[in-house]
Amino acid sequence: MKNINPNINQAITLPGKFYKDETSFNLCKELIFSRTWQLICDESKIPLTNNAWPFFYMDGFIEEPLVLVKKNECETLCFSNVCTHRGNLLIENPCSINKDITCKYHGKRFNKCGKFLSMPESQGMENFPTENDNLTNLPLKKWKQFLFTSLNPIIELDEVIKEMDKRIGWMPIEQFVFDPNASRDYLVKANWALYCDNYLEGFHVPFIHKELAKTLDYSKYKTETYRFSNLQLGVASGGEHCFELPESSPDYGNEIAAYYFWIFPNMMFNFYPWGLSLNIIKPLSPSLTKVEFRTYIWDESKLEHGAGSILDKVEREDEDVVEKVQKGISSRFYKHGRYSPKMENGVHHFHLLITEFINNN
Ligand code: FES
Ligand SMILES: [Fe+2]
Repeated sequence: MKNINPNINQAITLPGKFYKDETSFNLCKELIFSRTWQLICDESKIPLTNNAWPFFYMDGFIEEPLVLVKKNECETLCFSNVCTHRGNLLIENPCSINKDITCKYHGKRFNKCGKFLSMPESQGMENFPTENDNLTNLPLKKWKQFLFTSLNPIIELDEVIKEMDKRIGWMPIEQFVFDPNASRDYLVKANWALYCDNYLEGFHVPFIHKELAKTLDYSKYKTETYRFSNLQLGVASGGEHCFELPESSPDYGNEIAAYYFWIFPNMMFNFYPWGLSLNIIKPLSPSLTKVEFRTYIWDESKLEHGAGSILDKVEREDEDVVEKVQKGISSRFYKHGRYSPKMENGVHHFHLLITEFINNN
C-alpha cells in the first residue's frame, strides 16, 4: 500500500480500492486487528470468583474462541477455549467452574488457569504432557470496568488509552451503569474504515446532522490527535447542556458538550454529561460492518438534553451517508480525495496509522 503523506496539506486520502477489496480487508485483519487491543466486555459479565465467560475475539471476523475466567477477586484470566487434544470447544456457555475444566469430548482436564491436569487413556504416550498441552494464555488488561485483550499486541494498551484517561479520568466511570435497553447493534452496508472516517471528522455535522448541529458550536469544534487515539471536542452552543468540569480538568472554564474519543483501530468512547456511549466497530466483510452501541448511564436526568440526546437519529444519518459513500468509492471514476487541513486531521491521522500498521509489518 502507498504511504499517506504526513503533511496533510499535500496528502491524498486512501484510495477508493482500499474500502472494497478483499486483499486490503484481510491485511487489516492480520496486521491491524490481530495486533491491537479489543474491548471484550465489562466486568459485570464475570461478577464472581470462578465465573467463566466464553466469547470469540471478533465474532464474524476473527473467530478465535477464547474464555475469560475470574480466578479470584483481583485476577481475571483470558485463555484459549480450544481443547489441546483434538480441538473441541471447552466452555460453551457462561458458567461457574467448580473444580476444573473438563473437555466433554474425551475428558482432558485443565485447571482454572488453563494448565493441563490429566488426560484419560494417555498411558504409553511419549513426551507427554508438554507446554503444548496447556491452553494458550492471552494478555488481559483492564481500564475502569472494561476488559481488553489482544491476539498478538505490538503496542501496550496503556499507550493507547493514556490520553483519554488523563483527560476524563476524573469522571466516576466505574459507577456508570450499563443500560441494555438503550444499547443496540446496527448493521451498516459499508467498510469498517469508511464508518470510522466519517466518525473522525465534524466537518459533516452541519450538512448531515442538522439537529445535532444546533447543540454544538461548530466554530469551536476541534480534533486533537495523539499517537494511537484522538479526541474531538464538542463545545456547546450558548446555553446548551455541558459538563460541570472540575478545576483539575484541562478543559475547566469551557463549555464542553461532548468528548468523542477514538481509540485505534475501532473503539469510540463518547462521553456526554449523562454518561458514556461506547461504540465498537466490527468488520464483517469489505462492505458490511456491525456497529455495537453500548450505553452506560451516569446521570439519567441529563439523558434528554444536549449533544448526546439524539444518538439513534444521528447514527441513522451517519449510516445513510456512509452507505452512499461505499457505493461512490466503487465508481471507476473515483480514485482518492484530499483532506481539509482544518477539519479532517482526525481522518488523516487514522489513515496514517492504517498504512503504518500495514506497511511496517
Ligand atoms: S478434544 Fe478434548 S479431550 Fe479430546
Ligand atoms: Fe456523523
